[in-house]
Amino acid sequence: MFSSEIYTARREALISQLDSGLLLFLGNEDSPMNYADNIYPFRQDSSFLYYFGLDQPDLAATIDLDDGTTTLFGDDLTIDQIVWMGNRPTIAERAARAGVESTRTAAGLTEVLGGARRSSRTAHFLPPYRAANVFRLIELLDIDPSAARSGSSEPFIRAVIAQRSIKAPEEIKEIEKAVTVTCAMHVKAMEMVRPGMVEQEIAAAVQEVAERSGGGLSFPSIVTVRGETLHNHFHGNTLESGQMLLNDSGAESALHYAGDMSRTFPVDSTFTGKQKEIYQIALDAHEAAVTALAPGVPYRDVHLLACRTIASGLKGLGLMKGDVGEAVAAGAHALFFQCGTGHMMGLDVHDMEDLGEDRVGYGDGFERSTQFGLKSLRLARELLPGFVLTVEPGIYFIPELIERWRFEGKFTDFIDYDRVEDYRDFGGLRSEEDFVITENGARLLGPPVAKTIAEVEAVRAG
Ligand code: GLY
Ligand code: MN
Repeated sequence: MFSSEIYTARREALISQLDSGLLLFLGNEDSPMNYADNIYPFRQDSSFLYYFGLDQPDLAATIDLDDGTTTLFGDDLTIDQIVWMGNRPTIAERAARAGVESTRTAAGLTEVLGGARRSSRTAHFLPPYRAANVFRLIELLDIDPSAARSGSSEPFIRAVIAQRSIKAPEEIKEIEKAVTVTCAMHVKAMEMVRPGMVEQEIAAAVQEVAERSGGGLSFPSIVTVRGETLHNHFHGNTLESGQMLLNDSGAESALHYAGDMSRTFPVDSTFTGKQKEIYQIALDAHEAAVTALAPGVPYRDVHLLACRTIASGLKGLGLMKGDVGEAVAAGAHALFFQCGTGHMMGLDVHDMEDLGEDRVGYGDGFERSTQFGLKSLRLARELLPGFVLTVEPGIYFIPELIERWRFEGKFTDFIDYDRVEDYRDFGGLRSEEDFVITENGARLLGPPVAKTIAEVEAVRAG
């Protein structure tokens, strides 16, 4: 973890934004896979990590906004637990590491919240995303399930988002560690692929790079020759000559900051002519988006620039037609680019999505579109120095979507469906990198990884 002073300063900054009542932070519990003692790898709640840094299950904390005290709740291990799990720091030792002055047992939390309820004080809590914490809230606050799910505190959520959105220098360093491991995962995949391998061999190798670094994966890897399915988690296809492999994977640092990158490359040592043409259009969109990154620029504008670059390139190939600006405004490009250009990244790969995608990515003055394609844009708001985000435009030929739109006669002024038929089995591709917004632009995180056609083919030939 970081030094205790960092966690104390983060909590003080949060307190300064809020008025009165109790702030309740629920850490995560171990989560069973198929019976209680056979558990998924433990992942602490990211806001708990941000304000307390303590990476163990069964903890909670409160900040009393009225008397200024912060309390850590948890139980020291019993001798039986020590026999099975080994010894762990006491709750008092953990509190000291987080700069917290006061501790109580886990049962003490029920008393504190009961007392608050009796004196009509507000207990502010963040939206729970795990069933276990929904149940804890129901019991601790004596509320019904719908209130546990929908009764989270808007001022608390907004203050946390405002604070966590701006990454401090020590966080950017930690994110860059994760991205550097992520780069190594991508180099590994790009170097090892040969026709006849199965996707799971590459997925395993990529995961090994992440785990050897002392962290793990920041999300389930997408390693697929069917890259047109945006979140394709199937790893059972055999790689064939003539195909491309899309690798979208990332590492988490030991402190749980994320990296998230994508590369698409040929299973052979070179792209086919057709693959080169589509790859270059997606890369042009990527570079146009990167060049546009700066404080004050709405990310929606960066996204629309990427969309227009894709539409213009596809018009050059005869797949689209008409006015590019009008086509994008109407949403016709979304036949080929169905999602957004990127998202915030930090302690979560889609940072703070548990606190509400719109609250994080839209904010005041920006409203999410309902148009197919644009509605999936996770980040639209104006960028600020300290934001960390991904840039990941792509081009995806989804046979079912092509068929559906053609049948419905959608956007026939902008799409040449006969020409699109030649690409129906093309698959999909994207390049994805991570950036921090600086005072006057943006900086790529991590070392550069082969991205141009020439660079990728050089690695593949190597
Ligand atoms: N890397 C997966 C995603 O951004 O959704
Ligand atoms: Mn991503």
